[in-house]
Amino acid sequence: MEKLIINGGKPLAGTVTISGAKNSAVALIPAALLADGPVVIENLPKIQDVDIYFKLLREMGADVLFEDDWMEIDGRAMQSVLMPNGRVKKLRASYYLWGALLAKFGEARVGLPGGCDLGPRPVDLHIKGFEALGARVENQNGVMTIRANKLKGARIYLDLVSVGATINIMLAASKAEGVTIIENAAREPEIVDVATLLNNMGANIKGAGTDIIRIQGVERLRGCRHTIIPDRIEAGTYMIAAAATGGSVTLENVIPKHLESVTAKLREIGAEVIEMDDCILVNGKGTYRAADVKTSPYPGFPTDLQQPITALLTLAKGSSIVTDNIYSARFRHIDELRRMGANIKVEGRSAVIEGGHKLLGAKVVASDLRAGAALVIAGLATQGTTELEGLEHIDRGYENLVGKLQNLGADVQRVSSHRQERHHM
Ligand code: EPZ
Repeated sequence: MEKLIINGGKPLAGTVTISGAKNSAVALIPAALLADGPVVIENLPKIQDVDIYFKLLREMGADVLFEDDWMEIDGRAMQSVLMPNGRVKKLRASYYLWGALLAKFGEARVGLPGGCDLGPRPVDLHIKGFEALGARVENQNGVMTIRANKLKGARIYLDLVSVGATINIMLAASKAEGVTIIENAAREPEIVDVATLLNNMGANIKGAGTDIIRIQGVERLRGCRHTIIPDRIEAGTYMIAAAATGGSVTLENVIPKHLESVTAKLREIGAEVIEMDDCILVNGKGTYRAADVKTSPYPGFPTDLQQPITALLTLAKGSSIVTDNIYSARFRHIDELRRMGANIKVEGRSAVIEGGHKLLGAKVVASDLRAGAALVIAGLATQGTTELEGLEHIDRGYENLVGKLQNLGADVQRVSSHRQERHHM
């Protein structure tokens, strides 16, 4: 077991290069299986979710070369449609293989996904989409079989805006017979990234990035090369950390437009944010104003940053309310922030933060990926020593977090720790 030792209170300063988007990578890798030839994906983030996908595809018989941030995927040799349960449990986004295998083989057999513990993570909208395209879904003791003799285009209305369902239906529909229309589709940049790859492979997808996506199925998809967009959530995390430590950080390799809601919120709270072509400069300040945050689907404020921005708001004088309209149970970082002295209470879907007084270093544990990010930010902003366990969550989605923070002057070390029993005071 390892832990981070963070000696906080130092302003971050310097430049950080943002990696490729995790939430694109986990969809682009299965999408590549649909080509009748090798697909090269570049700018992959070096994170565990990508490693698990690499091993998963190899085990299923695909030819995959993977080095540094570069992966070549050739799915032609794949025979099996059954996904090995062990890998699936650790990879929530393995569900994108359902749409890919359905389009490729007309069948997929998988265990139900694992991943972050954010409360119930249903997949009913994915299933509804597959059934609309003519697939039948059976579920026997945790293994789900999705089968279709022929996938036929359909008009599908998503009751909820869902990134995963939008992408999964797009994957399945890309080689279906006829036209599929997805209405009330999610508009995240990662969806556009997947549509860009599929179109470069020869698919015919229009409207990705809007709430209506039109997919004209095609017979064949061919190999090509694709470079992943920058990770807007990693970028937002560093923007918030720069503000929280009163530092001055330049983020390179970002698309400022993808971060408009974060930039606006940081300015409202009192940080200075300067946008340039492909980089953003964040100058933190000594004091901040309380602000309310309400998450919503893109281009609204992302749910993946509600935990990190909560850490910042503990420093802002006054009362701030953070409401997560996407997930109802994404507050497991609050108890840990309280251990650092934060004054926060959860009321329904909202966290009410009484901010403006100093936090104290403490021993804390990350329960999920973005809760971990929030606790790192709180530790960096706090005079004193914070010890953070639960790094397996952070390693899933942040490439080289310690190295990037050390390059920004943070006093943070990753050390092995014997998981002592936590003595509750
Ligand atoms: C994606 O998850 C991201 N993960 C999540 O990021 C992100 O928080 C989420 O989108 C929202 O932006 C990946 O892209 C791999 P949804 P996804 O389907 O697709 C409900 C991170 O930290 N829903 O957009 O699973 C669902 O419960 C992760 O990087 C259904 O009810 O999210 C949620 O309340 C965490 N039925 C809402 O819709 C379904 O079939 C939005 O979920 C699907 C979703």
